[in-house]
Amino acid sequence: MKQLKLVDFVIFLFFLTESLSLPTKPQDVDDFSITQKFIEENVGYITIITFAQYIQKASFEEVEMLAKAMTEYRDQCLTNRTLPQCSKLPNDALLEAICSMEGLPKEHNFSHCCSKVDFERRLCFFLNKKADVGFLPPLPTLDPEVKCQAYKSNSESFLSNYIYEVSRRNPFVFAPTLLTVAVRIEEMIKTCCEEQDKANCFQTKAVPVIQYLKALSSYQKTVCGAFLKFGPQVLKSIYIVTLSQKFPKIEFKELTSLLEDVSSMYSGCCEGDAVHCIHGRSKVMSHICLKQDSISSKIKECCEKQIPERGECIIHSYKDDRPEDLSLREAKFTENKNVCEERNADQHIFMAKFLYEYSRRHQELSTPELLRIANVYDDLLKECCNAENPPDCYSIAESKFNETTEKSLQMVQRECERFQSLGKDGLKYYYLIRFTKIAPQLSTDELTFLGEGMVTALTSCCTLSEEFACVDNLVDLVLGEICGVNENRTINPAVDHCCKTNFAFRRPCFESLELDNTYVPPSASLGLFTFHTGLCQEHNEELQRKKDRFLVNLVKLKPELADEALRSWFTEFSNLVDRCCKATGPGACFNEQGPKLAAKIQTS
Ligand SMILES: *[C@@H]1O[C@H](CO)[C@@H](O)[C@H](O)[C@H]1NC(C)=O
Ligand SMILES: *[C@@H]1O[C@H](CO)[C@@H](O)[C@H](O)[C@H]1NC(C)=O
Ligand SMILES: *[C@@H]1O[C@H](CO)[C@@H](O)[C@H](O)[C@H]1NC(C)=O
Ligand SMILES: *[C@@H]1O[C@H](CO)[C@@H](O)[C@H](O)[C@H]1NC(C)=O
Repeated sequence: MKQLKLVDFVIFLFFLTESLSLPTKPQDVDDFSITQKFIEENVGYITIITFAQYIQKASFEEVEMLAKAMTEYRDQCLTNRTLPQCSKLPNDALLEAICSMEGLPKEHNFSHCCSKVDFERRLCFFLNKKADVGFLPPLPTLDPEVKCQAYKSNSESFLSNYIYEVSRRNPFVFAPTLLTVAVRIEEMIKTCCEEQDKANCFQTKAVPVIQYLKALSSYQKTVCGAFLKFGPQVLKSIYIVTLSQKFPKIEFKELTSLLEDVSSMYSGCCEGDAVHCIHGRSKVMSHICLKQDSISSKIKECCEKQIPERGECIIHSYKDDRPEDLSLREAKFTENKNVCEERNADQHIFMAKFLYEYSRRHQELSTPELLRIANVYDDLLKECCNAENPPDCYSIAESKFNETTEKSLQMVQRECERFQSLGKDGLKYYYLIRFTKIAPQLSTDELTFLGEGMVTALTSCCTLSEEFACVDNLVDLVLGEICGVNENRTINPAVDHCCKTNFAFRRPCFESLELDNTYVPPSASLGLFTFHTGLCQEHNEELQRKKDRFLVNLVKLKPELADEALRSWFTEFSNLVDRCCKATGPGACFNEQGPKLAAKIQTS
């Protein structure tokens, strides 16, 4: 009888995923049904996100068709919960629907996924996602008037189209984040379409939304990439740090139970199972809000919000203050006689406790740095617990921690000094050259994207009071982009080694890389020096982008040249463009000057 009731409950919550344990406390049930209702109401959008992220080449018409089918499926199941097709897991139901769309699997080349079932099928779809979206045209930009008209005549279809376009270009962003972006875009449209100067309004208001999407996309990709490459233990470590820093008051036991929810959420979100992701996240947030008295004083307002805003709000809330009675030093890991016994009892729990105690005391450090410290400690104990006098041996732990921190601080200092001395453009050229030298196999698009990522990190962090953590965290995300999410990329042996060896030490590993010696540059210049007069008509931003690409391609052609030489050839190229565009006949000027520059560079 009990079993039957449970089944009833599962079917009633028609989009429930098996791996989520059922709520037991009244407040949880409340949150759960609110989330459920949210999912049911947004079946259309959720379908669009999932479909567009899995099959990035699918057309909007195809996506819309599936959204309609899934909405009908929902209505059917809400009317009669006992229909056999309604007991499927939501993501499976969705993939089933995708696979049964006529001609589609063949057209978009995913028949091999449809011939699999269950886990294998989900994995296949996941592996099919392409992080590099160079095969898609840039996000279409509409005239403001056209945009407002389109929204006015059919707001739902307009938003669907927007979600579709953004999702297929950001295949790893979590569904709740995309839904939040959609809400913000709608707010922006409502406001801006009332304004006189619509174009200006759109331009100003879109910037923070795009930044928000980019930042979260980068973070989610890096964490999922770490999870998939290094396993659930690394994900847990990242979240021990994050949660202990944000909620230094939290008790270890509470933290551990929260970590279970976080892990479950990530396995859904990373895989692209939107419904699991939304439920999982809602569960984490309910847990935090329910226990907020013992977790944080900074989230009261967030907890009063509805999903999906509640989660986004908590993620972006300030770190809680460190409890006054929490001393900066924790001697029990470095001075206690029984460290090795405690460690031997359960290494995972012991290391988790260490990371928790160290992180809640050091809110000023970055996530990777705290992971490095835990690594250093683990290595030290491995050695010391086999030594003759362990306490003597590990008494140097603290100075070892300081040593790694000092090294990382210096690395950040050098980076920020570089920013101060080179300025924004100079800094970008520096990183374009650096990244192209260490990974010339990457596409020009990706390399310019990475260079821009470094510039964003350093310009937004250097001079902040939390400079160190800010730089170290953000730069680590740039490296996360290089290392990839759903694949073990093979770029070149040195880069691959840095990506897969140790998550915490990626930064120092990349820092030590030099020119890739496996790379063979192209023998011909591949049209690099054939300039078109169209260059002169480009807007500033676009012209700059083309110049950046030239620099990257130049490094690909002549990687062995010193940085200064590359920069000076780049300056010469830039001057040439400016000069020729001012000349009476730019075409003739380019035809004459281009080959000259090419010859000079080729023989240098
Ligand atoms: C619901 O579906 C089940 C299974 O197909 C069927 O036996 C039942 O009669 C249906 N109930 C209603 C109210 O339509
Ligand atoms: C289709 O997918 C298969 C398996 O991933 C791949 O080997 C093949 O090259 C793809 N074909 C096209 C045209 O993309
Ligand atoms: C480590 O650094 C902290 C903070 O700078 C300092 O208070 C402590 O004395 C240092 N410990 C050792 C052993 O060097
Ligand atoms: C990448 O490598 C890790 C560890 O070697 C492995 O567990 C994972 O399955 C690999 N991922 C892919 C997509 O091949």
